[in-house]
Amino acid sequence: MPAVSEAVIRPAARIQGSIRVPGDKSISHRYALLSALARGRSTIRNYSTGADCGSTLACLRGLGVDIDVTAAAAGEGPTLRIVGRGLRGLHTPSGELDAGNSGTTLRLLSGIVAAHPFSTTITGDESLRRRPMGRIIEPLTAMGARIGSLEGRAPLTIDGGGLHPIDYSVPVPSAQVKSAVLLAGIQAPGVTSVRETVPTRDHTELALRVFGADVSREGLAVFVRGETPLSAAELTVPGDVSSATFWAVLAAALPGSDVEFVDLGLNPTRTALFDVLEEAGARVERAVETHGHAEPRGRVRVRHGGLRPLTLGASTVPLLIDELPALAAMATHGAEIHVTGAGELRVKESDRITALVNGLRALGAEAEEFPDGFHIRGRARLTGGTADAAGDHRLAMAFAVAALGGRAPSLIRGAQAVSVSYPGFFETLASLTGADG
Ligand code: S3P
Repeated sequence: MPAVSEAVIRPAARIQGSIRVPGDKSISHRYALLSALARGRSTIRNYSTGADCGSTLACLRGLGVDIDVTAAAAGEGPTLRIVGRGLRGLHTPSGELDAGNSGTTLRLLSGIVAAHPFSTTITGDESLRRRPMGRIIEPLTAMGARIGSLEGRAPLTIDGGGLHPIDYSVPVPSAQVKSAVLLAGIQAPGVTSVRETVPTRDHTELALRVFGADVSREGLAVFVRGETPLSAAELTVPGDVSSATFWAVLAAALPGSDVEFVDLGLNPTRTALFDVLEEAGARVERAVETHGHAEPRGRVRVRHGGLRPLTLGASTVPLLIDELPALAAMATHGAEIHVTGAGELRVKESDRITALVNGLRALGAEAEEFPDGFHIRGRARLTGGTADAAGDHRLAMAFAVAALGGRAPSLIRGAQAVSVSYPGFFETLASLTGADG
């Protein structure tokens, strides 16, 4: 990550343009991890350019996986060629693996190495070392792995091998926990099942099918029959809807705005944002264009159409957990938002309730925090000010969204964090607001 930096955000009246956002972060991780466990050489196009997905590749290389990265045409992510090592075929790492800022890398990879008969230590940056890992330690230990931690936090030392299947009910809505158990389950004999109480993103289930795993679903339960060999695949990662969110909320907030996203991931477990934007008054057009792929994708156009208050609770929150900072920023453009049932935000890359409320207040919004959510009320125009991203990529981008509606320029401290998921964010912001000409 580059040195700590500040970004100056000048007010803007509207945003306009056609955008290709970077490849989806969640999907990129999964395609790389499953390619490593498959037999043969997989090709992944438009891999995410974010630092998090780079951490997954670095960890896989540390486990002996051969990965070739080729730069692609401008605007597209690189193409990876990954030579898979087969189930339980990874090599003993020669040192600690570093997952950087990436919770998905740490949690999903833990499920994978739990099935390997050697010891793996996975660590991460300061933020990742603060995050709760008991949620994966518990089920992976129940499957037979031995996992050492610092009071339930990374570094994790995983002594794997000899796993047996479990029937697991996930206690917190978490696609990462579900995926860690499934990735261990595909390498254990017999059928592993994972049950959720609310749906979370299903990219692992979809990708497992493409790689040839024996996977089935019944309602909110997923079943994998372990030890079915995976075969190499050719896949293209669609654009990341969580990155598109920042432009979508701006288009919804600023009169006269009109943005179109091309080749955007439209998996229904990720698109609740667009329903919420419509509820808030935006005009949203969606067209699924590509079928027969693991993941639906297509075009989305978002235009301003007024901005109404929003109330979100526990039943919708898991489907737009990563979008909440952006929605809060949208509300500062003269509306309001009330969110509850979102206590999980406190254990993301930062405490996304306290840090969000502090940052939006610093920019001039009225903001109140609850144990499991927040209430944000915008004024006709924010004063502008200095907001600290708290090392969190999504907060850096959310504060930029709020700052565009200020009366005066604002400063975002720690703006370099955007490189975790969206390295070109500020350049795209300049081009969409017309500030680059
Ligand atoms: C992710 C799942 C979510 C999300 C994160 C990515 C994934 O985390 O917040 O950004 O790729 O599975 P949880 O599983 O902790 O809810």
